[in-house]
Amino acid sequence: MGRTTKKDLIIKYQNKFESQFKDKTHFTAIAPGRINIIGEHTDYNLGLAMPIAIDRWICSIVSIREDNKFKIYSANFDEEVFISKDQLDKKTENWKKYVFGCIQVFINKYNINKGFNILIGGNIPIGFGMSSSASLEVSLLSSLYSACKISIDYHTILELSNKVEKEFLGIQSGVLDQYASIFSKKNKPILIDFSSLTHTYVNSNIKGASWLLINSMVQRALVESKYNERVSECQCALKIINDSEEKNIKFYELNKYHLEQLKDHPILYKRIYHIISENNRVMLMRQALGNGDLDLIGDILNKSHVSLSRDYQVSCNEIEAIIQISKKQKGFYGGRIMGGGFGGCCICLVKDSQKDIFVEDLLSKFYKQFSYDLKIEYVKFSDGLRLVN
Ligand code: GLA
Repeated sequence: MGRTTKKDLIIKYQNKFESQFKDKTHFTAIAPGRINIIGEHTDYNLGLAMPIAIDRWICSIVSIREDNKFKIYSANFDEEVFISKDQLDKKTENWKKYVFGCIQVFINKYNINKGFNILIGGNIPIGFGMSSSASLEVSLLSSLYSACKISIDYHTILELSNKVEKEFLGIQSGVLDQYASIFSKKNKPILIDFSSLTHTYVNSNIKGASWLLINSMVQRALVESKYNERVSECQCALKIINDSEEKNIKFYELNKYHLEQLKDHPILYKRIYHIISENNRVMLMRQALGNGDLDLIGDILNKSHVSLSRDYQVSCNEIEAIIQISKKQKGFYGGRIMGGGFGGCCICLVKDSQKDIFVEDLLSKFYKQFSYDLKIEYVKFSDGLRLVN
């Protein structure tokens, strides 16, 4: 996978598209994956988060066909399907679910009666919490907009992607990943407020330390995890609060005072405690990044991890080991599980001068416990969605 640039990917897949479909009139969109600095499981609870796009992308290329069928090629899986509209409804698996879902929500929304040639390809590892699926949705929907000459509406892309996640994949997710993939700016973490779907860019003055992404290699499919359970627990907690108070409190209005109403529901108490404290940590992180306060940034990350692990309970043994080992290493400011949880990656802040030794020791100590190698994902920051034509 290495250091492929955005340009490399676009050229590679446009060439592939032309040889695969013998068609030179095509529309390309390329959308990045993301890391999330802070603000986990807050998106579907209308809270705050601070992701940033990375230099791993999914590229989608679309052309209009003369019939109204769909020929779709996945470059990563080297697999092609040729289907008609009624087959979009059929039960399907893996990458096809996302693609069929996007085509269907798009053509239904805009009453489209055209067929498409589609190529999808990219370099985001699948299932490790770097948001490969959201990037696919964002890039494919955007290239469909271009091919159909409909002017792009980013908030509708968020809506349509969310519909795909919920109706085609069965995941009750928020829009953190898609939002970051669309609106990110290079080297600027983006502070998103999910209650209003607005954002601001954050100044990061980190010096002498770098973000490190540690892949636990535990692959998680959100739909098979307890992700949906967490979503409904939070909804249930909100209902209890509202029933007891006879008010119409929204998620974003919750504060520690409301926790009182959950004292007879210890699990729900913990879930909402995480949400309230995590939103506070996002605001604190904005300040800490602006001040370049490495110790404070590390402390916020560590506290977020404890909260995700103990209160929200979305960690796993391998991730706990990564954090425990890291905490004993020199140069480690802090770190936490990132993304949906139950596996995937940890995001850590590590002193530059100690980084190599930190990685070496972490890998060997982890290997002693689990007999397999962790993977360090060396990512750089990137801009958001780009349309090419
Ligand atoms: C996954 C989901 C996001 C978000 C995160 C947790 O990445 O796709 O919507 O809920 O988990 O913060």
